[in-house]
Amino acid sequence: MNKRYLVYFALAVVAVTSPAWSAEDPIQALYNQKCASCHGKDGKGTASMAKMFKVDIALLDLTDKATLDKKDDVLDGITAKGVAKMPGYETKLKPEQIKALTAYFRSLAKPKR
Ligand code: HEC
Repeated sequence: MNKRYLVYFALAVVAVTSPAWSAEDPIQALYNQKCASCHGKDGKGTASMAKMFKVDIALLDLTDKATLDKKDDVLDGITAKGVAKMPGYETKLKPEQIKALTAYFRSLAKPKR
């Protein structure tokens, strides 16, 4: 291998494995992977899913007052057990992860309050 390519290769390895390149917080990553398809990356709900589930998008909005007014354990319980058309996650997520997700979507609402 040409020396110059070797340098590029080494740089590429450093770039891909360096933590600065995968700075996403793990709970944010979990939310984006498990919840964002229905609730949106911004927590406001996705119109396409509201349509598919035939629910008002307000039900998918995790940043509205109706959601934020609920206590943390109520919201944790909904994520664990599911509600109506929402699947439960108690077999897929640990209780600490569920709590962290509740805190995470609450944080999505903050700047707008
Ligand atoms: C397949 C779509 C879907 C996914 C994925 C999903 N949800 Fe939901 N979620 C819903 C629907 C639909 C509702 C509204 C249910 C109802 O009240 O009719 C809901 C409601 C909720 C509520 C209740 C909001 C309120 O105001 O009472 C919480 C909390 C919630 N989801 C959290 C989560 C979390 C956390 C995740 C990821 C682990 C998640 N959801 C993933 C569809 C989904």
